[in-house]
Amino acid sequence: MNLSELTLDREGLTAAIACEDAAFEAALREKAYQVKVATVGPEVYLRGLIEISNRCVKNCLYCGIRRDIRCQRYELSEEEVLTTAQMAAERHFGSVVIQGGERTDAAFIRKITRLLKAIKSIDTGADPPLGITLSLGEQPREVYEEWFDAGAHRYLLRIESSNPDLFRRIHPSDPMHAYDRRLQALYDLKAVGYQAGTGAMIGLPSQTAEDMADDLLFYKEFDAPMVGMGPYNPHPETPLTLSGAHYPSVQRRFSLGLKMIALLRLLMPDINIAAATALEILDPRGREMGLLSGANVIMPNITPREQMVKYNLYDRKTLNASDVQDLINKGISIGFGRWGDSKHFVSGI
Ligand code: 5AD
Ligand code: SF4
Repeated sequence: MNLSELTLDREGLTAAIACEDAAFEAALREKAYQVKVATVGPEVYLRGLIEISNRCVKNCLYCGIRRDIRCQRYELSEEEVLTTAQMAAERHFGSVVIQGGERTDAAFIRKITRLLKAIKSIDTGADPPLGITLSLGEQPREVYEEWFDAGAHRYLLRIESSNPDLFRRIHPSDPMHAYDRRLQALYDLKAVGYQAGTGAMIGLPSQTAEDMADDLLFYKEFDAPMVGMGPYNPHPETPLTLSGAHYPSVQRRFSLGLKMIALLRLLMPDINIAAATALEILDPRGREMGLLSGANVIMPNITPREQMVKYNLYDRKTLNASDVQDLINKGISIGFGRWGDSKHFVSGI
């Protein structure tokens, strides 16, 4: 396939995703990088990722911290979260992401509210107060409101797959794991006023090129100001892996991950696109290559080390943490001390 033949409709996106020609992929990624620089600029924004707990009430079939997996569970204390956020402020990260397994009990909700207020009052010197993104799953709208009022302004909730059938195949079939509920939560987040980010996994068993094209069109239709998507990485003890379902090779999932970023940059030039950690699992240069394919956000993991290893969504024994300094050394410019909100959201188009 030739880049000049690419159209950004379902048919064109599907053909681009299915195409395995390396020269096409390289040209596509280069084009997306140029569009990124021309639209949102060359700067990369940081979100210090704090994985607050691996306790989760859900049982997604692909996830290594699902309820029924036996693993060591942890929960950071409020003090630990605050010390970590403080460190993000000292390093001028600009923003933090509070991510954790899903919980809906009152004690948890109140804890997050208290934390949000405390993080907002961290002294950041000349920088604006830390921007806060939450990634804590589906919650009742009132909870989203409470957390928004306490200071969170972005929320990540992946749709995981925009194809309801595929979504059903990778989740238990009960009301707690319903596609419609996930979609409703996304619309609730938007209505409350968050920059609501979403995303899907790439290279899932039985996922087709059409499904992936539809994921991209879903982000467009939802008008997502930010997207974080990444390759599926099988975890050895999950039902999805144990079922023996076939999924694409490491090389193919990596290539798909980069191509999806590039295509999304062409489809939605002014949004924030994250180079997901999952890319780095597949290739030590994954994060950097994501940035060179159109992504403009990275989420360096700043969870205290001993807990980080327990947040085992997938097998990440091979995690190659290229740190921020490494990216600077490679000439990538970083938007230190800035929120780096999506240009799309700010301009309201
Ligand atoms: N491979 C890739 N991503 C995964 N996630 C969970 N399990 C996996 C996996 N095996 C992602 C989901 C979820 C996020 C917290 O982690 O997309 O939204
Ligand atoms: Fe829980 Fe999220 Fe894992 Fe699902 S993907 S089991 S909601 S942590």
